[in-house]
Amino acid sequence: MVRSKKKILFVLLIVLLITFLSSCSNQNSKRIVRVAHNQSEVHPTHIGLIEFEKYIEDHLGDKYDIELYPSELLGSQNNMVQLTQTGAIDFCVASNSLMETFYRGFEIFNLPYLFSSAEHYHACMNDPDIVDGLFNATTESGFRTITWLDAGTRNFYTVDTPIRTPDDLRGLKIRVQQSPTNIRMMELLGGSATPMGFGEVYTALQSGIIDGAENNEMALRTNGHGDVCKFYSYDMHQMVPDLVIANDNFLNNLTEEERQIFDEATKILNEAQIEAWTGAVEEAIDYAINQQGVEFIEVDTSLFQEKVMPLHEETLASNELIGDIYNKIMEKGATYQ
Ligand code: GCU
Repeated sequence: MVRSKKKILFVLLIVLLITFLSSCSNQNSKRIVRVAHNQSEVHPTHIGLIEFEKYIEDHLGDKYDIELYPSELLGSQNNMVQLTQTGAIDFCVASNSLMETFYRGFEIFNLPYLFSSAEHYHACMNDPDIVDGLFNATTESGFRTITWLDAGTRNFYTVDTPIRTPDDLRGLKIRVQQSPTNIRMMELLGGSATPMGFGEVYTALQSGIIDGAENNEMALRTNGHGDVCKFYSYDMHQMVPDLVIANDNFLNNLTEEERQIFDEATKILNEAQIEAWTGAVEEAIDYAINQQGVEFIEVDTSLFQEKVMPLHEETLASNELIGDIYNKIMEKGATYQ
């Protein structure tokens, strides 16, 4: 069966499942609010979402019942975003990488070496002047972005070939997220881009379909990629945020008071996730070194940066949605050199 038919069938099945769950749970007459993501229950994103759930249920528990669906229980991020768009679920977390296929404005945060440091990245993501326009630009498509979550820095890791320079990527099949910008980035670096959903990566690594992947350090531990990949190279090519996506009708149908509670819960989610992030990454590194035998490699990042910088010019030239934000990010960067 062709891939798109399979996808439609999958989304239909999930919608049916959700309708069934709703009919079972409607007995208590609370509105079930479904929140889906693709991380495990020990990941900072889930920890942040538990705070989101608690805050809303503490304040509006007689009316709303928040249900969290971690670990791709409701499908891949692509599926989750579609379900949120249609209102089959209410919220999901999606990587900015794949959001560019829903709206090209998101290409901005997929550019490699966009931010000069984690401080610069956080300052930009927390600046309403930079993110608000983009976060609200998709309401006609049925959803909006309500906050961002930290997803650290993305680096290459491989089963058995240490990456020290871009030349080492030549001939290697590297999993990237399903985003044209990421595919082009790999092309410029000389590796062979293999796009696939996050949940498929472990098996693909294990069975040798791919030689490596790229992600933050959490993927080594919480997704078990460090069981298979023994070299993790700090080329620091991207800081791609995760985005919390909400069904726009759901938000618009809240009363003003309810909306304030949801907004406050969103702020709490963002803060709790970011607070949990650094410690979780440190633990992941420790686990990767001591339990999984992963070697962490410092590399000359400028060698990688040189190769991919043409992507900034290319993207700016082909996408008029991102020029303004790009300039603001660069301007802010001057403060964080
Ligand atoms: C990170 C990110 C996820 C994303 C994943 C991926 O883990 O937080 O949102 O799905 O990378 O590479 O697909």
